[in-house]
Amino acid sequence: MDKLRITGGRRLSGRVEVAGAKNAALPGLAACLLTGETVELANLPKVRDVRTMLRVLEQLGARVDASGGGRASVRVERFASHEAPYDLVKTMRASVLVLGPLLARHGRARVSLPGGCAIGERPINLHIDGLVRMGAEVRIEHGYVEARAGRLRGASIAFPEKTVTGTENLMMAATLAEGTTVLSNAAQEPEVVDLAEMLIAMGASVHGAGTDEILIEGRSAIGGARHRVIADRIEAGTYLVAGALAGDRVEVRGCGPEYLEAVLEQLRGAGVPLEVGAESVAVSAPRELRARDLRTAPYPGYPTDMQAQYIALATQASGTSVVAETIFEHRFMHVGEMVRMGADIRIEGRTAVVVGPRRLTGAQVMATDLRASAGLVLAGLVAEGVTVVDRVYHLDRGYEPMEAKLVALGAEVERIR
Ligand code: EPU
Repeated sequence: MDKLRITGGRRLSGRVEVAGAKNAALPGLAACLLTGETVELANLPKVRDVRTMLRVLEQLGARVDASGGGRASVRVERFASHEAPYDLVKTMRASVLVLGPLLARHGRARVSLPGGCAIGERPINLHIDGLVRMGAEVRIEHGYVEARAGRLRGASIAFPEKTVTGTENLMMAATLAEGTTVLSNAAQEPEVVDLAEMLIAMGASVHGAGTDEILIEGRSAIGGARHRVIADRIEAGTYLVAGALAGDRVEVRGCGPEYLEAVLEQLRGAGVPLEVGAESVAVSAPRELRARDLRTAPYPGYPTDMQAQYIALATQASGTSVVAETIFEHRFMHVGEMVRMGADIRIEGRTAVVVGPRRLTGAQVMATDLRASAGLVLAGLVAEGVTVVDRVYHLDRGYEPMEAKLVALGAEVERIR
């Protein structure tokens, strides 16, 4: 199993280019199931989850040409299967994004239930409830969601809580439903907006994405399109934190600063100097980082996917930072590992209390999920001596090789087997 070996204490400077957003690429790929025509996607990040989603599509009958770097052309003329099997779903829960499109166009879907994961229970009841309201018959059997429908019917669906992939699944399903669907309390993430733009380019009628109410008028069919996936705001944020910890000057390029407001605000409040450009943000480490409380929230709030990275920063800030995780119940797996590196962090329910600054020392640590791994790599950058982050496959699910991007900035990081 690959590991990252980080020698801490190096200063970072230079430019880092942000990849396409994993969490926009995955629903974008699932949306290819909605049409028999060819869909071309550009700016796909070179990460494992994207490769997994392409395999899920191939399994369902898609012809995929992903030979061009960061591009894929997908055509699903007819379905070879209506099943997303356990073996694929267990490696990537976002496979559940095929449920809505499959059911809407093919009338049948059998998708393995993803089950819990390291960060929380993560049920998909809200996806299922919505599809049932649109006329689907859904049973849970043998660990699978088995869904059938004639043509789905538009419906008014009010989400009791915000769900990103739930909103995306129902938005996709609704594009082929008969009549109008209104999704209230919808997720407002930029990735939802990106998907809506792609669906519109495919001929769907979608209004209001980016607000909490999305209206979709169903069509009998939609067609092919070309779409460029937006930049990954979480990858961007991760390198901003690296710069805030150890940067002489790190410029994060191609990152859409308008989607990073909550992260930028949090960093500013911690005393991090930022230069915000049209498509880039430059950052350097201040002489002193200041503690600042944090509360994760659905967009436009501070993203839960940037919580572990912020905790790494808070270990180096003067004072006490209280970090509340409101989205996922178990998303503090990185904390125990950071404590082994010398951090002073106490967990109280869904809150982590971080007292800093503490001198971190390199250790062997274990990655448990994607963003926890990123937090540990960041901690390694400022730890004294060598940190070895094990189970880097978690990191590779959602980040283009971090060692390459960090080395280009002057860090000492290598991948070992
Ligand atoms: N929830 C339910 N029932 C549902 C759906 C969600 O109770 O049917 C709960 C969840 O358990 C959670 C909350 O609602 O407590 C929000 O979950 P959400 O559905 O929004 O999460 P998701 O769609 O499964 C996406 C991202 C995650 C990101 C979250 C929150 C993708 C592919 N995944 O997950 O990304 O953390 O939104 O922003 O878009 C990551 O990239 O590392 C990652 C985990």
